[in-house]
Amino acid sequence: MTVHFIGAGPGAADLITLRGRDLIASCPVCLYAGSLVPPALLDHCPSGARIVNTAPLSLDQIIDEMVQAHAAGQDVARLHSGDLSVWSAMGEQLRRLRALEIPVQVTPGVPSFAAAAAALQAELTLPGLAQSVVLTRTPGRASAMPEGERLAAFGATGATLAIHLSIHALDRVVADLVPHYGADCPVAVVWRASWPDQRVIRGTLATIAAAAQGIDRTALILVGPALGAEGFQDSRLYAADYDRRYRPVGTDPRFPE
Ligand SMILES: C[S@@+](CC[C@H](N)C(=O)[O-])C[C@H]1O[C@@H](n2cnc3c(N)ncnc32)[C@H](O)[C@@H]1O
Repeated sequence: MTVHFIGAGPGAADLITLRGRDLIASCPVCLYAGSLVPPALLDHCPSGARIVNTAPLSLDQIIDEMVQAHAAGQDVARLHSGDLSVWSAMGEQLRRLRALEIPVQVTPGVPSFAAAAAALQAELTLPGLAQSVVLTRTPGRASAMPEGERLAAFGATGATLAIHLSIHALDRVVADLVPHYGADCPVAVVWRASWPDQRVIRGTLATIAAAAQGIDRTALILVGPALGAEGFQDSRLYAADYDRRYRPVGTDPRFPE
């Protein structure tokens, strides 16, 4: 018996890995985080499966479901939105399951920042403009930020920022970032990336708060010079004169065939 943590993707029912889909189909118990996991994914559950929305449950109740499945020898598919490595609450479940010696496996999913970048048709790491992406958030009612992780500190790097769980604090985000990026810096808000009703709002730090008025909850704020830029250098990777292992160039290549 194994508890399979499965990244359910950003919203579109076909943005799940084949492995994740097949695991759902093989597990007689499915626990899903109801607020963001697309209901259509539950169609992959085998008939007669026990399907539980964990949104109204406490951590103890969720673990209890897993313990009962363990006692019955039944595999569990545990679905969380996006990928499990960020803001999934997987860590606290893993800790309890390890203590109970219940076997677990983790199958990654498509994170929402990747779905938002796809909606924008954007590469977030453009040569000469940004070579890092910071996945971050602002403080919430239930989650303070560690002292060193202030938005302004990340802003000082000039990297592309993918700011989660913060659309309600867009004014504050703008105020923190203007001193570092300038008011003209491109910004995009992507609401429900990959869902049928996805919305993309583009602007600058000066204009985005007015443009994104009324957008709430499931939205990402992307900030940085790489968004929408056309005046960047080509990467060296595909430059005709760049000598590399898979495409030796010149009379004395570094990696001779
Ligand atoms: C609890 S976190 C879950 C993050 C998730 N584990 C991931 O990999 O993206 C929820 C936040 O992620 C962002 N988010 C999740 N799904 C999204 C989507 N489809 N479009 C835009 N933002 C999304 C929003 O900022 C939302 O407030």
